[in-house]
Amino acid sequence: MKLFDVYPLYDVTPVTAKGITLVDDKGETYHDFYGGHAVISIGHSHPHYVKRLKEQLEQMAFYSNSIKNPLQEALTRKLETLSGCADYQLFLCNSGAEANENALKLASFHTGKAGVIAFKNSFHGRTSAAVAATDNPKINAPLNLQHQVDFIPLNDVMAFEQLISRGDHCAVILEALQGVGGLDEPTSAFYQFVAKKCREHNIVLIADEVQSGFGRTGMFFAFQHHGIQPDIISMAKGMGNGFPVGGILIHTHLQPSLGLLGTTFGGNHMACVASLAVLEVIEKENLMENAAKMEAYFKEKAGKIPQVQKVKGRGLMLGLEFEEEVGELRKRLIYNQHLFTGGSANKKLLRFLPALNITANDIDLFFERLKNELA
Ligand SMILES: Cc1ncc(COP(=O)(O)O)c(C=O)c1O
Repeated sequence: MKLFDVYPLYDVTPVTAKGITLVDDKGETYHDFYGGHAVISIGHSHPHYVKRLKEQLEQMAFYSNSIKNPLQEALTRKLETLSGCADYQLFLCNSGAEANENALKLASFHTGKAGVIAFKNSFHGRTSAAVAATDNPKINAPLNLQHQVDFIPLNDVMAFEQLISRGDHCAVILEALQGVGGLDEPTSAFYQFVAKKCREHNIVLIADEVQSGFGRTGMFFAFQHHGIQPDIISMAKGMGNGFPVGGILIHTHLQPSLGLLGTTFGGNHMACVASLAVLEVIEKENLMENAAKMEAYFKEKAGKIPQVQKVKGRGLMLGLEFEEEVGELRKRLIYNQHLFTGGSANKKLLRFLPALNITANDIDLFFERLKNELA
């Protein structure tokens, strides 16, 4: 048997990891400024995270959603405290795509409609409705194209108004700060307009916070920078610091009924503890404040590099835009400088998605090594 060959791989095999440091099978050290695509929120093998997971594993790893699991309640309470999202209910699942799939499905149940409005350059995952709401025809199979999705550019008020006047949409799905698309965001005024119109037309507003949530942008959720209140918020990536956890926060005006949604693995004991450990560390180590502080430091340093055309993003969801495409640069950064960085649909954007507890010294190291490759 061999692996189904869908991932273009770098020739590196990390075997241990601590903080932002990875060590490969040859004993070489690497620095992780990619976080496995915004997943590593509190650093690899954070001691509190390891302790909590080990203890839970020894106690009980899993049972299905047919029994009471107080860890789910504990996670709900902690999420409310840290996010400030009080009037919401939590449904747990296993990935970002699954979170969005459930969000879209709920919107459709709630309104009885099927149309979805999404934005140009969006990425919402690879399952049925989530991939249909993703602006990338290459990853949509004919099966997925049965969904009714309309894509509009960010900030296009006219296009939005025209679409909603049709009356056949159940949801608007947005990334407050686009991730895979390349760190674009519209004005707050545009988002506030969209939120207002959704309320008026009974359209469910879904904020996809799979990448931008859990403190990554310096606030708990990226939509909080724009003063809007979505009906559903989807989460995953940083939620479990590598343990697969996803979820949606559903506003209390959307009511559950038994059997409406479900999953075998979602909300299992290990997943809840992984996410609780992440939230405990974010709170104890003030990681949202650190993300905002490190953003300012990063932007100041980036501004001094002549080859950088634009610095994009917020918190520790950042990117440097160059005149040239960055694919080769990313390879050189890994192989020559031992730095992991990220890419995006915008081929000129080098992405920076480290753990939220990085320090100014880590950022200094990043820029020193980047400069070596730009010289
Ligand atoms: C904004 C956003 N939504 C959804 C997803 C899909 O998440 P997953 O790969 O966990 O299904 C991603 C993944 O990159 C994402 O960035």
